[in-house]
Amino acid sequence: PRVIPVAPPPMGWSSWNSFSNTVNAQIVMEQAKAMAANGMQKEGYQYINIDEGWWLGKRDAAGNFIVDPQAWPALAPGETAGDMSNIVRFIHSLGLKAGIYTDAGKDGCSMYPDLGPKIFGAGSEGHYEQDFLQFAKWGFDYVKVDWCGGDKENLDPAVQYAQIARAIAKAEKATGHRLYLSLCEWGKQSPWTWAPHVGGAPGDVWRTSGDIVDPIVAAGEHKDRKAGFDKMLANFEQGIHPEAQHTGFYNDPDMMVIGMPEFTDVQNWVHMCLWAMSGGPLLVGADLTKLTPVTLQILTKPEVVAIDQDPLGLQAVKVTEPKPGLQVWSKPLAKPGTRALLLLNRTGDAAEITAQWKDLGLAQTPSKVKDLWTGEELPTYGSYTVKVPAKSAVLARVDGMDLGAVTYRPEPQTRTPCR
Ligand code: DGJ
Repeated sequence: PRVIPVAPPPMGWSSWNSFSNTVNAQIVMEQAKAMAANGMQKEGYQYINIDEGWWLGKRDAAGNFIVDPQAWPALAPGETAGDMSNIVRFIHSLGLKAGIYTDAGKDGCSMYPDLGPKIFGAGSEGHYEQDFLQFAKWGFDYVKVDWCGGDKENLDPAVQYAQIARAIAKAEKATGHRLYLSLCEWGKQSPWTWAPHVGGAPGDVWRTSGDIVDPIVAAGEHKDRKAGFDKMLANFEQGIHPEAQHTGFYNDPDMMVIGMPEFTDVQNWVHMCLWAMSGGPLLVGADLTKLTPVTLQILTKPEVVAIDQDPLGLQAVKVTEPKPGLQVWSKPLAKPGTRALLLLNRTGDAAEITAQWKDLGLAQTPSKVKDLWTGEELPTYGSYTVKVPAKSAVLARVDGMDLGAVTYRPEPQTRTPCR
């Protein structure tokens, strides 16, 4: 079998939150250009992921996708309209990677009747080998596989995703092209227990919860969108399964809402801190052409991105919660004696939160603590206390001395995909 280098958590953009069923080549090109120009690509963001709505469920007599030639036209001389390799070529020409989407069942989601006519209903069941081979031939680098159809048909996700992973392995073998697999089963049947090794067929990332927000559509904002911030916090917690996560295999608490209309700067910052601590995908769901300078600063702070992308690939764990809603989270980083430290105040009042070095598995020796928002660095003995504003967070990197052996899983350097 081919040996595939393990990858850090994927970083990029997804079309769903901001464009849902309106996604087309024009939108995708604008987003890709924005990512290349606004500093995100330089900081490691690279995937441009086309989500549901790119294909309206039609196949030809041989079962091949029929793609709308108007939504996906020729983009350069010699190209044919309705061929998804056009948009892949464009994305690759900017040095970015391209992602595509399907469902494990016969139907896609079709679950947003108020977003417009029911034009979805498109999944890959019965066509796994054909569809994933097509994705690889088109040149896609990443495929997200949703679960609406599977759920509707009461299928077993471990069985279906294993078949999908095997179809992907076959497609990879036939094309020599790596197709990253994102499982989107929303944590319904504990995918962290089977997704990393299902039937010997690993998925690379797996969703652990439902969506943080419903998407924006051209017609206007969805009525439930205001629920975002609390749902974001809930998604973070539901995504914590540290025993399942290590380099190359990640829990996915959903694409981020950072930069979308209803999140404030502080909420965006808390969101970014939590996703970095979670150590999963950093996929932006906002319209990249509309990000403010502060939002961009939040998304591209090198030391925060580095926490997410740390080569050890671990998740944060909650080490203490001295009072309800006042939480101390710690994520071991690859450099011995270092931790990412999050002091999270979920309450409605400002409060002091203290992290004790012993709770982080660090010796009582002086440690360096760097606040990753202000950039302030302090030598600190034994503990660190900060007054954290209401519904806010302080993210820091602690550089100290390990108290004993850190009990985390050994870092795999490579993996053999048996799928
Ligand atoms: C549900 C997923 O969780 C979302 O991220 C998005 O892919 C939609 N389905 C598409 O319908």
